[in-house]
Amino acid sequence: MSALNRDAFAGVRVAPSILSADFARLGAAVDEVLAAGARVIHVDVMDGHFVPPITIGPLITASIADRVHGAGGVLDVHLMIEHPEAQIGEFAKAGADAITIHAEATAHLHRSLGAIRQAGCLAGVAINPGTPVEALAAVAARSDIWLCMTVNPGWGGQPFIAESAAKVAAARAIDSAPLVEVDGGIDAATAPLVVGSGATLLVAGSAVFADPNPAAAFTRLSAAAGAVVGAAA
Ligand code: DX5
Ligand code: ZN
Repeated sequence: MSALNRDAFAGVRVAPSILSADFARLGAAVDEVLAAGARVIHVDVMDGHFVPPITIGPLITASIADRVHGAGGVLDVHLMIEHPEAQIGEFAKAGADAITIHAEATAHLHRSLGAIRQAGCLAGVAINPGTPVEALAAVAARSDIWLCMTVNPGWGGQPFIAESAAKVAAARAIDSAPLVEVDGGIDAATAPLVVGSGATLLVAGSAVFADPNPAAAFTRLSAAAGAVVGAAA
């Protein structure tokens, strides 16, 4: 496991989600956005239970880990799975730098966040649009990242839920230490809204990888968000 590169998470960052990438040429697609200055690569793990689709697991995560770390980047793993505590070790071994679990998916949120840090990763908590933001307060001291879902999890390409901007601001007001991440429906129009509310990690799947030129789309979206590109200043 490589040493955790916290700098890659610093500042406002657009994090391309490989969920919308062409999996037949995944390595090349990741290389393109890394070359454009992406440093946080978002990995969406779905189990067919917590959310209906089944996507990717530790094998695919590990397959891109070296090229991401080699470019100074980090892997931001978003577990949309039940019993996420059972998979923390596998994803840490696969090269995850941050592991985010859903508050709705485990009865053992507090303990699981401790286990993620113990595994050498940043510990993240995600909450669905229907989950009150107060769910985050009890685990503030154990959280490095708070992921406010800005769509219902499960699929790329859904529209941004407008109330999400206020929820991001409410999360920020609970505690200023965890990074606030947003995920779903982020594009050049919605990015400034969530940045204005205090989000600094902006996941973008279809806005980057559904574009015929993902590198150019990443560059445009980063500019719209006022995000850092490339190495931290
Ligand atoms: C949705 C996933 C997202 C997804 C976002 O459940 O967690 O990370 O890739 O896709 P877009 O950016 O297309 O809404
Ligand atoms: Zn995600």
